[in-house]
Amino acid sequence: MAQLKSSAMLTLGIESSCDETAAAVVEGPDDAGVTLVSNVVASQDDLHAQFGGIVPEVASRRHIEMIVPVVREAIERAGVGWSDLDAVAVTRGPGLIGSLVVGMAAAKGLAEARGLPLVGIHHLEGHIYSAAIGRALPLPAIALIASGGHSHLALVRDHGAYEVLGRTRDDAPGEAFDKGARLLGLPYPGGPQLAALADSYEGRVQPMPRARIPDSLDFSFSGVKTALARLVREKGLREGERARIAAAYQESIALSLAERTVQAADEVGPYPILAVGGVARNRRLRELLAERAEGAGLRVHFADPRFCTDNGAMVAAAGAYKFARRGPDDADLDCHANLPLESWSDGC
Ligand code: KG4
Ligand code: ZN
Repeated sequence: MAQLKSSAMLTLGIESSCDETAAAVVEGPDDAGVTLVSNVVASQDDLHAQFGGIVPEVASRRHIEMIVPVVREAIERAGVGWSDLDAVAVTRGPGLIGSLVVGMAAAKGLAEARGLPLVGIHHLEGHIYSAAIGRALPLPAIALIASGGHSHLALVRDHGAYEVLGRTRDDAPGEAFDKGARLLGLPYPGGPQLAALADSYEGRVQPMPRARIPDSLDFSFSGVKTALARLVREKGLREGERARIAAAYQESIALSLAERTVQAADEVGPYPILAVGGVARNRRLRELLAERAEGAGLRVHFADPRFCTDNGAMVAAAGAYKFARRGPDDADLDCHANLPLESWSDGC
């Protein structure tokens, strides 16, 4: 447990938008961002592995089982009492609606029972604030949010002030990793497996073709996925070839992400880059982005790998800032499967 500063604010964060039931407590914010006090993540990977992907109804049911034990454990590990909390933050979307409502109902119940303010968080702003755990966000910044469900480039002008610069036109990069893994015959969850296979390849890596979208900061990953599917269909998968193909596939995705991010800085200003989301865990992306950014004279701030994939700490971090700057949300706060990333002043 972290050493608590008696005067600082404590925020409980709850995340259940997809297949992780997660809760965490953070302290702050102060000059060093927020401080992690506890962090509990119950992954559903084992459950969905048998289906080869996430089954929404199965996910909701597991959230229902896990939400109370996970929140309770986050409080216990924090070594605080319920009365020490100052706010409850919860993901309100986007995500699987049946999963979101479980977290929202739990957060509302807690807030009401304990007389605590409630703060709704956009899942992508949660990812952005994963970079504020243990360090202040260097704002303004350009956020690359690369995850299983999303691929966004956003200019973060100030806390809660976002401007979306680009997004994917089809698949998200994590989705491309997961689908690529399935094509290569790797077990679920595929993204990290494909990355590990790719990293085991020691030869020269020739990236698979990348989408070219002129005059835009958008991404597209369906083409590379289709190219991989065609390759596997037409040539089959010889054992010695799998690592080389995985490396070429990974290289294409990582290059697209790194190049577009540096292009964004070229267009909107040489702001520091925040690399967040599940795919920001990818070793090759981290390497390429650091290299390209350095070449362009840009700083990159990678989220701690522990906070790249979905977790409650990022929601608590965003919630702590949002509550400190904008106050609580109303009791009729709702959740939405589709929810655009909007600035706090725009009414969210
Ligand atoms: O942020 P996240 O937990 O969930 C969403 O908000 O979507 O991201 C999960 C995604 C999955 O698609 C997973 O395959 C991918 O992040 N991922 C990775 C790696 N670790 C997780 N992709 C590539 N390389 C990794 N090392
Ligand atoms: Zn996420």
